[in-house]
Amino acid sequence: MTLDWEELLETAVNVVTEAARIARESSQTFEVSTKSSRNDLVTTVDIAIEGLITSRLHSITGYPCMGEEGHSVDSFDGPVWVIDPIDGTMNYVATQRDYAVSVALCVDGAPTIGVVCDVAADTMYTAIAGQGAWRNGEPLGPVPENTSYREGILIADVKELDALPRLAQLVRESRGHRRYGSAALECVEVARRQAAAFVHLWVSPWDIAAAQVICQEVGVRVTRLDGTPLDVRYKGSILAAWPQAHAEVLQRLCIDPT
Ligand code: IPD
Ligand code: CA
Ligand code: CA
Repeated sequence: MTLDWEELLETAVNVVTEAARIARESSQTFEVSTKSSRNDLVTTVDIAIEGLITSRLHSITGYPCMGEEGHSVDSFDGPVWVIDPIDGTMNYVATQRDYAVSVALCVDGAPTIGVVCDVAADTMYTAIAGQGAWRNGEPLGPVPENTSYREGILIADVKELDALPRLAQLVRESRGHRRYGSAALECVEVARRQAAAFVHLWVSPWDIAAAQVICQEVGVRVTRLDGTPLDVRYKGSILAAWPQAHAEVLQRLCIDPT
């Protein structure tokens, strides 16, 4: 069966809606394990949701699936689903808010459809490359082009502030600092004009593939921290920001610190 972009988006939204329901209903009954460190968590819900999403998407579309909790692909040629079953697992475990289910369809490595569900807020962000981005089905407007980081919130973790003293200085000059603990939702904060920039030193494809489409559709610039293009197939840094804020942050971090 060949589906068009709208049908593929609808398929992804339906699966993400089901996954979000499971996350919400399982919030008192999961088990937690650690992965690479004591703060790198996975729950039985992450694994169950990834299983559900990958099997549904694969059976409906036939496309291969990459997911954080164990699904890998041999190649990014053609269409590939990229899944983070819970982005913000620490939040899922510790606070039960600010966690997302994130599903992207990449075509030859380019994120083309993005679905990010802010589960606790019951809000679905969607986008199709070249067609727009939506919040619960309502179009998301463009981000401000000519607004400085000084007029906005900057999002970064303490790891970035420690590693990049110039970023800490930019935060001091801005309207304020936030950190939510879900890279997908942090990108979406920039796309929905709540924050001027998001900086992270080390994101994986599943953290940002879906949010990248949402960002790009509303004019957010998404690059690596040195300004080079962000190829979502590879892990690395991200700078997602409104256009002027992006240029300013880049200038101050990488070109001229004065
Ligand atoms: C994590 C979150 C977090 C970011 C980490 C990610 P996870 O994803 O997006 O905000 O700082 O780098 O690994 O592990 O909760 O899916
Ligand atoms: Ca993640
Ligand atoms: Ca995850």
